[in-house]
Amino acid sequence: AAIEKGGFDHFMLKEIFEQPITIADSLRGRLVIPESKIILSGVDAIQDKLMQARRIIIVACGTSWHAGLVAEYIIEELCRVNVEVEYASEFRYRNPIISEDDVIIAISQSGETADTLVALERAKAQGATIFGIVNVVGSSIARISHAGCYTHAGPEIGVASTKAYTAQLAVLMLFALKLAKVKGTISEERFQELSKELQEVPEKVEWVLKNEVDNIKAIAYKYKDAHDVLYLGRGYNFPTALEGALKLKEISYIHAEGYPAAEMKHGPIALVDDTLPVVFVASKDAYHEKIISNMQEIKARKGKVIAVVSQGDDMTQSIADDIMQVPAIDEVIAPILTVVPLQLLSYYIGVYRGLDVDKPRNLAKSVTVE
Ligand code: G6P
Repeated sequence: AAIEKGGFDHFMLKEIFEQPITIADSLRGRLVIPESKIILSGVDAIQDKLMQARRIIIVACGTSWHAGLVAEYIIEELCRVNVEVEYASEFRYRNPIISEDDVIIAISQSGETADTLVALERAKAQGATIFGIVNVVGSSIARISHAGCYTHAGPEIGVASTKAYTAQLAVLMLFALKLAKVKGTISEERFQELSKELQEVPEKVEWVLKNEVDNIKAIAYKYKDAHDVLYLGRGYNFPTALEGALKLKEISYIHAEGYPAAEMKHGPIALVDDTLPVVFVASKDAYHEKIISNMQEIKARKGKVIAVVSQGDDMTQSIADDIMQVPAIDEVIAPILTVVPLQLLSYYIGVYRGLDVDKPRNLAKSVTVE
């Protein structure tokens, strides 16, 4: 087992560190920048359905559901089509309205999650077109999909998903860029800009892994005994707040809650006192001054602010108690990058608490029962 972990203490850490390679693998041969082209044959296969679809429904569970939420923001922005994101377990039991005009994107690492699989079988029987974004080749969800795209993250052993998640995001971003191009809802200039940003993600993740680990370890040590942690983000950074909170819960058994930063005023702010750490996903975006004022609201109540911030953003860095830096990146692509420091934070907190981070209690890698 020590050899399989490639010198890392746990599979989870190995998989976090593999991400510059796995993200590049997800993009390889698909993003052809000189020709300004994205090659995804699965999208070509259902192009007519996608062009006429009045909405896209994304169905998934757990971390894969968070990838779906990121995709909602990106696809709606770039492709101007309505996107709904559904928990498979809710979708399958509530007699959803589905027609032949619906395209369903199924996101699953294992391709075997029971709720997702059954939800898709039902929707397929009602005429929907299924597009699978799956990691495990030949898995059940891959087989029942009409078309799809593998994430190519390689086997993921750690129960809490890391590299499979960033691979899902890479593929979903390719999907959105391609569909936007086909639909004519993106300018050539913006397409080029975002393609280039996507291409640069592996080296930016590498930067975090090279430069921020010792700092994140120190932050993890400082907060390892917290009882609750609140994660906040807005816009493209909101799903990352949810994923950061889920990762902490899974690995450290600390209660954590992800929330849209502005929505905290309607509840979570009541929890804030000098013992509550609040993690902000605060990389620079179009509404950056809004998240800064949310941080100030936490500081005014003596909460501790830990923030994922863009390099060079001195203003935000000076407000936070503790910062985790990421290289500057376009807000649309940011979710692949900003989740990495949060994966590391959860990992080290779990390790400092002496827990089995690769196999957290009560959790399963693949939930094949409902
Ligand atoms: C389990 C795993 C999670 C995963 C979820 C969905 O809860 O522990 O890491 O996100 O299932 O799994 P899937 O294989 O469908 O992505």
